[in-house]
Amino acid sequence: MRLTTSIGIALALLDSAASLPVGEEQRPLSLPDEALERPMPYAHYSVQSTIRDVLVEHDIIDDVLDDFEPSYYLDINYPKSHETVLLGNDLPVDAVSSRPVFTFHSIDNSFYPTRRRSKKSDPCTTRTERKKSTFTLILTDPDAKSRDNPKMSEMCHWILTNLTTPIELPYDLQEPLKAKPGEIEEYLPPGPPPKTGAHRYVFVLLEGDTANLNPPAERPHWGYGKPRHGVRDWAKENGLTVVGANFFFAQNEKQ
Ligand SMILES: *[C@@H]1O[C@H](CO)[C@@H](O)[C@H](O)[C@H]1NC(C)=O
Repeated sequence: MRLTTSIGIALALLDSAASLPVGEEQRPLSLPDEALERPMPYAHYSVQSTIRDVLVEHDIIDDVLDDFEPSYYLDINYPKSHETVLLGNDLPVDAVSSRPVFTFHSIDNSFYPTRRRSKKSDPCTTRTERKKSTFTLILTDPDAKSRDNPKMSEMCHWILTNLTTPIELPYDLQEPLKAKPGEIEEYLPPGPPPKTGAHRYVFVLLEGDTANLNPPAERPHWGYGKPRHGVRDWAKENGLTVVGANFFFAQNEKQ
């Protein structure tokens, strides 16, 4: 059930990110002008709110992150196993054993190329702002040792900084195992212990100055010494803003 729902949502998302919401292909374009002045009845189809809904449904907003409006979609793939992270799909542990590759796409107002976008500030300003942005991608496990007993949470699995936008695949696909500049915490492959159920593995995209970032003192609790502390504290401490997230579930074969 969980798998089916998540994949359905994720596929709908991927489709809508590329074009328009499923089943609504022509409507937004053929609406009369007056309709554009009113709140749109199909606004809940937006990619932002769909991603947010899934994050809320799985308590990632709350356990891991404060509430936020996603402004980037994170597309994450494990090239060796050809698995893709799809907002809560189940992945086998051995499929995520080496570094993933990824891209991220701005999803701000992507459905409303006309009226709504024209209300935004001068596009030149926006472009300049975008150019200056730097990003950090992290992977965290809020369910260490288990979701019911998160005494080691969060476990820091990966921190990669100095990412710029728009981003192409930052890794040589032939050599995803090789560490790259900007990796301040090496990729620790998810290894959920036996009989600890499904863990949520959460990727978070952070925006902000990455020139002087330091890794946490240790991986458990991201160095904050208490359960349920992690990326939220680290982002706050370093002045970084959460702009996107994606996640998968993985569990030990022995349950
Ligand atoms: C990130 O970029 C800054 C500025 O170019 C540089 O000083 C810093 O060493 C880089 N950080 C990493 C981890 O590569």
